[in-house]
Amino acid sequence: MNRNPQERYDGVSRAFHWGTAILVGWQVLKFFDRINDGEHWVGQTLVPPHVSIGVLLLVLVVLRIAWAVKQKDRRPSQDPATALAVKAGHFLLYAAMVLMPITGILYMVGNGHGLDAFGIGLVAEGEKVAWMASLGSLHSPIAWTLLVLVVGHVGIALYHHFIRGDGVLRRMA
Ligand code: HEM
Ligand code: HEM
Repeated sequence: MNRNPQERYDGVSRAFHWGTAILVGWQVLKFFDRINDGEHWVGQTLVPPHVSIGVLLLVLVVLRIAWAVKQKDRRPSQDPATALAVKAGHFLLYAAMVLMPITGILYMVGNGHGLDAFGIGLVAEGEKVAWMASLGSLHSPIAWTLLVLVVGHVGIALYHHFIRGDGVLRRMA
């Protein structure tokens, strides 16, 4: 039990934050496939489990959001001057984390590839489904948006820590 909810995120929230942060970081390595058609060490070693990790992330993010909602009155308090912007920024991060795997799945199923995660067949290969494929084509633009959000988020966290010298980064550490 978190004894001082105003000062620090509880252990479950911190585990969800860093677990999903590492996996999202891993997923954006998929951008490396743009280099040399994926014919390099990142594309060959770290990118192949993209779909499996994406499906795992969908499960983790849903659990993370359920936990955040349950804990909503026990989160560290925000500076009232920036509270609205912080709320909006965190909401967009959550939204992008949900939409990435959903559009990824729509891309795979909509283009008739089916869906496998960790060797388990979830959806068999089949006919193309135009509406799914067209929603799935939002995967890449949302990935770019998520990348910008994450760079901004990390930049703000580092600004708090090294320039403002306040305890904001330590609340999640
Ligand atoms: C949070 C989860 C995910 C993140 C952060 C993520 C991120 C990315 C990124 C950064 C790209 C490269 C886009 C580009 O080069 O323009 C990409 C492409 C792709 N992702 Fe994901 N992805 C996630 C989940 C998934 C899932 C669950 C699936 C499938 C079920 C999937 C399937 C694909 C496919 C097929 C591509 C290639 C699309 C293309 O070539 O146009 N992704 N993803
Ligand atoms: C080095 C990387 C990262 C650092 C240093 C970091 C730091 C932090 C800190 C300090 C907070 C608490 C902010 C506050 O209380 O006002 C936070 C919250 C949050 N972070 Fe990160 N973060 C990182 C990566 C990520 C990534 C990759 C994502 C998702 C894609 C993410 C999503 C979130 C979300 C959604 C919250 C809000 C939690 C809530 O209040 O429900 N973070 N992060």
